[in-house]
Amino acid sequence: MTHVVTENCIKCKFTDCVDVCPVDCFREGPNMLVIDPDECIDCAVCIPECPANAIFAEEDTPADQLHFIKLNAELAMADGWKSITKRKPALPDADAWNNKPGKLADLIR
Ligand code: F3S
Repeated sequence: MTHVVTENCIKCKFTDCVDVCPVDCFREGPNMLVIDPDECIDCAVCIPECPANAIFAEEDTPADQLHFIKLNAELAMADGWKSITKRKPALPDADAWNNKPGKLADLIR
């Protein structure tokens, strides 16, 4: 089991989640973070930290977000997706993009 970052992180990337992760399992892309499923210990402390409510336990991932389980695993291994361990400023229009649907098309890999 792991935890999963889902679509609402895209174009927000608030990064509050990384400050609380005890095993540094977040990986950073240009406009989203993902969780490395091989590192995540399922502690769940990141879930309430996300202002976008984008993180779920794998078993609680909403039906319309299940494709993000595979996507997190893929992107965690992708070139250029590096470990992020310290919070940084959110993306410039994060508040405006929070809770906007259909952001998967905007994911930059
Ligand atoms: Fe993304 Fe939420 Fe973390 S928006 S970067 S999963 S705090």
